[in-house]
Amino acid sequence: MLKLGVNVDHVATVRQARKAAYPSPLEAALICEKAGASGITAHLREDRRHINDKDMAQLAAKVHRLNMEMAVTDEMVCIATKLKPHSCCLVPEKREELTTEGGLDISGNLQRITEAVNRLQDAAIIVSLFIDPDNEQIEAAYSIGAEFVELHTGAYANAKNEAAREKELKRLITAAEYADKTGLSVNAGHGIDYVNIDGILQMPFLKELNIGHSIVSRAVIAGMEAAVREMLDLMQEYPN
Ligand code: PXP
Repeated sequence: MLKLGVNVDHVATVRQARKAAYPSPLEAALICEKAGASGITAHLREDRRHINDKDMAQLAAKVHRLNMEMAVTDEMVCIATKLKPHSCCLVPEKREELTTEGGLDISGNLQRITEAVNRLQDAAIIVSLFIDPDNEQIEAAYSIGAEFVELHTGAYANAKNEAAREKELKRLITAAEYADKTGLSVNAGHGIDYVNIDGILQMPFLKELNIGHSIVSRAVIAGMEAAVREMLDLMQEYPN
């Protein structure tokens, strides 16, 4: 069955907007698990703009299957080998970006990425490489011994019109077929929402989808009525 990994980064984004103690990414993660998510993903960015070190340590301790998203840096590899999440997804990271904008250039950073993959695998962590749907990157991922690739679905999700959307979907389908044939397991993620999921489900050989922003956004809207009612109930105590 196709698995769902929920990315809880943006629960921490809401918390960081006020530098408050809530909402808690861990609490959200435990609710996701209860609702049937197979895994939890969190990205410890170098600038700690949402998830911080304490969040990641708590998630690693309490969540059944944590996927730590991270840049290919010595600092991140050290943290991961200490926390031992179930898996790590290596992503490119730029400080100025709003979110992960493209896939890894594996062949262009071969030595650095190979060394990180080896160190993580030596610590018994499953490694996934976040790549664009591109044959050269798939071959490079296989050649350095990654178990998984996560195909970047952002270009499909952000396509401006139907023709572009179809073209990007075809690229994803072809890449999933090629990755499976090569011997890699295939995940996908980025920008997947409640509308564009229909096209994503046409991709063959998928093991897991990693979805964050749309689920956190939906949770805000779906939970708004209950949150307002709860506050009004507390206000009932005001003497008239
Ligand atoms: N997968 C990877 C590798 C990502 O970098 C992200 C964004 O953090 C996601 C999945 C989730 O993307 P979104 O928040 O758009 O669903």
